[in-house]
Amino acid sequence: MRFIIRDDDTAASEYVTNYIVKRILDFAPTPTKPFVLGLPTGSSPVKVYAGLVKAHKEGKVSFANVKTFNMDEYVGLAEDHPESYHSFMYKHFFGHVDIDPANVNILNGNAADLDAECADYERRIKEAGGIELFFGGLGADGHIAFNEPGSSLTSRTRVKTLADDTIRANSRFFDNDLSKVPNQALTVGVGTMSDAREVLLIVTGSSKATALAHAVEGSVSQMWTVSYMQMHPNFMVVCDTPATDELLVKTVKYFKSIEHPETAPKSKELRVDTEKASTDAAVDGELTPDSMRSRLAGSVLGTSSPPPVSEAMLMDGMLDSMSSRVGTTEF
Ligand code: GLP
Repeated sequence: MRFIIRDDDTAASEYVTNYIVKRILDFAPTPTKPFVLGLPTGSSPVKVYAGLVKAHKEGKVSFANVKTFNMDEYVGLAEDHPESYHSFMYKHFFGHVDIDPANVNILNGNAADLDAECADYERRIKEAGGIELFFGGLGADGHIAFNEPGSSLTSRTRVKTLADDTIRANSRFFDNDLSKVPNQALTVGVGTMSDAREVLLIVTGSSKATALAHAVEGSVSQMWTVSYMQMHPNFMVVCDTPATDELLVKTVKYFKSIEHPETAPKSKELRVDTEKASTDAAVDGELTPDSMRSRLAGSVLGTSSPPPVSEAMLMDGMLDSMSSRVGTTEF
């Protein structure tokens, strides 16, 4: 595995932003060879999305040839509910970049036949050629996507009943009212995630420290589904320092010591400043559900075309400069 530790969530988010941008640029996607990206929701990736939006607006990356698959969605929550993962994605990301709505895939938690919806999602992932990079967060109980403790480590996309801990954690988005949190979700499986050619998790805050210790140092166990990623040949975790609270000092020291300093981000100016991107967007009022309603084809969220990114902007020295910004350790 690769394990990158940064001082705070802003620096961790910057790292992840730059890593995703670099992966897309290196892949050089085309309409016939899109970059297939798995995506999460939750608070952990918010600064990464702000950074990706900023990178896009600065002409550093285009999502025109990126195909996305979100990892999960609540069952029975209206698509245009402010806390649906459809809404989240358009508010924080899709509504601000040049992605083709036809390339956006999010599970439909209101499908008449949920099992058929899940089977179709697996089929669509396969048809897209599999997921190149699955970006995710981590639940405090060790879940990835909504693969709660006890999930089969070979599970596929399916209906999952949420654990009490998750309902409690997510109630912060539902007026702290447990009864408002849907108790089921559709989620890609642990097996679906581990089929991706690379898995990248962002883990921030001390509330994730126990789960992170299980992910990095624990045994592979269905009770901490993230631990299965230890079996993945290309698994990377990027975390902040508070998330390392339960790790052994020697683990932290080791992974810090093997990060290649010559390829680490060099100057603040070169990096996407996700904190500023987040603030700018909030000040601009850009990250609002209204502005993303127009982005989803065939959806209750609306239909309109994304702004174009010119070829010249993309070619403007970005490929060279981006490639020097992402430090690495070994897989
Ligand atoms: C949620 C989502 C996960 C997410 C996790 C952590 O319930 N289903 O995909 O990674 O829990 O969320 P947060 O980043 O808000 O802590």
